[in-house]
Amino acid sequence: MLAFIAKSMARPVRLVKPVSSVKLPGRYLAHQEGLPRLPVPPLKQTLDRYLVALKPLVSHEEWNNTNQLVEDFQTSGVGERLQKGLERRARKTENWLSEWWLQTAYLEYRMPVVVHSSPGVVLPKQDFLDRQGQLRFAAKLIEGVLDFKSMIDNETLPVEYLGGKQLCMNQYYQILSSCRIPGPKHDSVVNYSQVKKPPTHITVVHNFQFFELDVYNSDRTPLTSDQIFIQLEKIWGTSLQTNKEPIGILTTNHRNSWAKAYNNLIKDKINKESVRSIQKSIFTVCLDAPMPRVSDELYRSRVAAQMLHGGGSRWNSGNRWFDKTLQFIVAEDGSCGLVYEHAPAEGPPIAALLDHVVEFTRKPELVRSPMIPLPMPKKLRFNITPEVKNDIEKAKQNLNIMVHDLDVKVFIFNKFGKNVPKSEKLSPDAFIQVALQLAYYRMYGRPCATYESASLRMFRLGRTDTIRSASVDSLKFVQGMEDAGVQNQEKVDLLRRAVQAHRAYTDMAIAGNAIDRHLLGLKLQAIEDLVSIPEIFMDTSYAMAMHFNLSTSQVPAKTDCVMCFGPVVPDGYGVCYNPMDEHINFAVSAFNSCAETNAARLAHYLERALSDMQQLMQRTLKSKL
Ligand code: COA
Repeated sequence: MLAFIAKSMARPVRLVKPVSSVKLPGRYLAHQEGLPRLPVPPLKQTLDRYLVALKPLVSHEEWNNTNQLVEDFQTSGVGERLQKGLERRARKTENWLSEWWLQTAYLEYRMPVVVHSSPGVVLPKQDFLDRQGQLRFAAKLIEGVLDFKSMIDNETLPVEYLGGKQLCMNQYYQILSSCRIPGPKHDSVVNYSQVKKPPTHITVVHNFQFFELDVYNSDRTPLTSDQIFIQLEKIWGTSLQTNKEPIGILTTNHRNSWAKAYNNLIKDKINKESVRSIQKSIFTVCLDAPMPRVSDELYRSRVAAQMLHGGGSRWNSGNRWFDKTLQFIVAEDGSCGLVYEHAPAEGPPIAALLDHVVEFTRKPELVRSPMIPLPMPKKLRFNITPEVKNDIEKAKQNLNIMVHDLDVKVFIFNKFGKNVPKSEKLSPDAFIQVALQLAYYRMYGRPCATYESASLRMFRLGRTDTIRSASVDSLKFVQGMEDAGVQNQEKVDLLRRAVQAHRAYTDMAIAGNAIDRHLLGLKLQAIEDLVSIPEIFMDTSYAMAMHFNLSTSQVPAKTDCVMCFGPVVPDGYGVCYNPMDEHINFAVSAFNSCAETNAARLAHYLERALSDMQQLMQRTLKSKL
């Protein structure tokens, strides 16, 4: 999803040593090696498509100016030289883009991971209402994640497909036993899943207190949920006090501030050991306190906020270690979900893991395990020096500002799901994206640069590229739709053309022929070659094209859930959706500090746009009969 690369592109990129990458075991290695390598698209193709993509976004004058810059880039030989550099890089590396992308989009990005980078997932509300229910569900969930882990460890996880092509499975090896570590200019990611002695514990957090819980027996079999439940009860019983320093809040800070605080924190040996335990753990489970009750209408939005940031320093934000790749959240009031640190993976593998876990929690308990007494889970201790306390206080203040600034609206569009566009022989994803264009145009009277993530996982170590949803065709449609003088049949034709154009862009993007990562590569190549940044990247049009007021992503899941994430620009929206057969789950976010944006308003316009588009097609069909 996240298009925050737009911001980081404004400054030079410092290349660093690759982070520890996980060596894949045998069968998957063979699968991986069978995957094609990400191509470098032809230079002229990208530049031509870039000019087309700018058409709906910039004025004639700006476009003409950019056209000239693009021509100079080609005729001067600068473009060709950089292109050759990229092609050399593609021959020498497994994937010319993935390491650059990891660094620029994530590890060098300095904004807090909370809200600005880490997505959350809202799971359906569970029907327990007390501590017993909470711990039983958490135990079952842990058992489910360990079951999924066994498929990764035994290499029995089925290879995934998109458009009939096998996908790269590497991200599944990056999400367990891993953690981000803050650094002064860039962060890193550590992964312990393939070390000689991989971790056998998870981290459990309750009342801001962290515990190391061993989840395997000495014979390497995982604990059963009954056993885990008893261990969780012990943790609960020894963490009843609520007056503890919320040490985890440190991880919510701006990355440079957190890096400084991190060095302070781990000067102390005990603190260092505790931090290492969290970093090494397979994943984290956060046992949250109940949040203030809200109406049914607001409930999902409140849970989305809880998943994204924990509710602030007074609520559950101290119950997290936001650098941890995977954190499952189970609250006493039945709210549950997940937050994940984005550097190692995109949403779809996380959603696949969740689907497995949710399915697992629904299975009845078959065997009751003999209750062999297990050792007390280890409490992770922290020495809070005055300096650390001061860092926590500062982090709390910044976090609370962020919490108040996030405006999030989760809603279910109930009128139809994938079924309606499919019955019209249209791509559901493209239909939703065109509806978003209509909604935005109706609100602002103009289109905006729109980012939709496209998977590059057909290629070895592939991550994402950008589908630019604001196109010449989408603009023609939204203008036609708003023009009373345009007949319905013509509107339908414009709608179909816009949807088909979006699907064509999607096909081009997933085949490695989109423009955004190629342009980024050319820019990074210039930085690496120590030549001056070409004019096309210093141009107003480029800045406008990279200012994604709409940052969107589809994260499909079988579970009736939705992923959510923050906007990537101060005056923008984050929109994530899970299209089901008969309905669509949406999460829309914005910042309260921006007077022009409002998540609930965009949600309302989006619902209207989807309905109007369906009615338009129905009416036109009827009038033909
Ligand atoms: N007529 C009838 N059915 C159609 C159709 C048409 N013209 N076009 C598509 N469909 C069907 C598909 O066959 C598919 O069927 P299924 O539900 O049985 O699987 C369904 O509609 C969905 O297809 P579509 O809506 O076109 O989307 P997609 O599944 O191809 O996904 C992307 C499109 C862009 C989301 C996907 O390619 C992608 O890149 N996903 C990764 C995104 C990502 O990484 N996000 C996370 C970032 S953190």
